[in-house]
Order: sequence, then C-alpha cells, then structure tokens
Amino acid sequence: MPEPIINGLLIVVFVVVLTAGYAGLSAAPWVPTRKGERASLAAKLKLKKGQTVYDLGSGDGSLLFTLAERFPDCRLVGLKISLLPFLISLVRRLAGRSRYRNVRLLFRDLYRTDLSGADLVFAYLTPGCYGRISKKFSKELKDDCIVVIEAWPIPGLEHRDKIVGDRQLPLYVYDGHQFRTGR
Ligand SMILES: C[S@@+](CC[C@H](N)C(=O)[O-])C[C@H]1O[C@@H](n2cnc3c(N)ncnc32)[C@H](O)[C@@H]1O
Repeated sequence: MPEPIINGLLIVVFVVVLTAGYAGLSAAPWVPTRKGERASLAAKLKLKKGQTVYDLGSGDGSLLFTLAERFPDCRLVGLKISLLPFLISLVRRLAGRSRYRNVRLLFRDLYRTDLSGADLVFAYLTPGCYGRISKKFSKELKDDCIVVIEAWPIPGLEHRDKIVGDRQLPLYVYDGHQFRTGR
C-alpha cells in the first residue's frame, strides 16, 4: 500500500481513538439506548409541531431516528464528539433520506453547545458528569424544557416521571426549572 494512504489511515485511526477517549472521559463512552427504551420513550412523549429535541451525545443516532419517525414535524438535533459513531450516524441519515430529513447531526462538544432553544433534552451519560451538566442546564434550559435522563437519576432532584419497561433501563423525567430551583 502506498505510504500516503497508510499515513492517512493512521491519522484517521488516531482521531477515532482520540475523540472516543475524550468522549469517554468527558461524559460517557458510546453505549446505545436499546430498542425497547427508545420505543417506550417515543410512545410516551408528547411533542408539538416545530419543537426542538437535543440528544446530548447522540451515538449512532438510533434514538433520533426512532423519534424522527414518530415526530416528523419536530427538529431533532444530535451532538456528538466521537468520530466513529458520528460517521455511522451520518451514513444512516443519508440512507434514511427523506424519513430522517428533520434530523440534524452536529460534530460538537455538548458542553460547548447552547441549549436555550431546546424543548426536550435527552441524555444517557455517566453520573460523573451530572454536576457539570446540571450547572449547564440551570443556566440555559427553558423552564418548561423536558429533560429525560437515562439509567441513573440526578442526585438530589426529584423526577416528575419515570418511564420503566420490562428489562429496560429507567428513564427519569425532569423539567428545566428544577435545575434552577432544586425542586
Ligand atoms: C451512552 S452513549 C448514548 C448514545 C445515545 N444518546 C443513545 O442513547 O443511544 C453517550 C454518548 O455521548 C457521547 N459524548 C460523550 N461526551 C461527549 C461530549 N463532550 N460531547 C458530545 N458527545 C459526547 C459519546 O460519544 C457517546 O456516543
């Protein structure tokens, strides 16, 4: 194989490993939300036309693609900092064509993205980042923004709903104002 191609491949592998490492340390490694959890969430949510949903760390985009089918009139935004799953999500988005036309995938750090326009924020991240993310939510989220947290609840904050299914990870539901008031 010619040397420039080998060098190019090595750079890609390096960036994939580097971005996966950063993602794992800053919020969570890539572990997709399972089909049952995605279906439960899509069935339970009530979103209005034109509302905006953010998946903070959108992995391969599976959650957004499930929501796109159920809410074709909403804006669905995925933030992603790990290169490999981001590229997979882009390919899936292209393959889905018009079915996923309302899905926007951004290669962007979730901590550096303004969430003030969000009507719903979804996060499946590790509790180690909850302090930092709660602070961000308290500054940016609208009072009535719905916050859905998968797997581990936010310590010290009472969820207003909990979505549970058979052999599924729980989904904890909060309102944006709770991150300011603590109630
Ligand atoms: C547990 S996975 C959840 C994936 C997806 N939300 C789902 O539910 O299927 C966490 C994701 O967050 C991403 N992530 C971690 N830190 C991030 C950061 N600082 N900015 C953007 N994405 C990040 C990881 O790359 C990973 O894809």
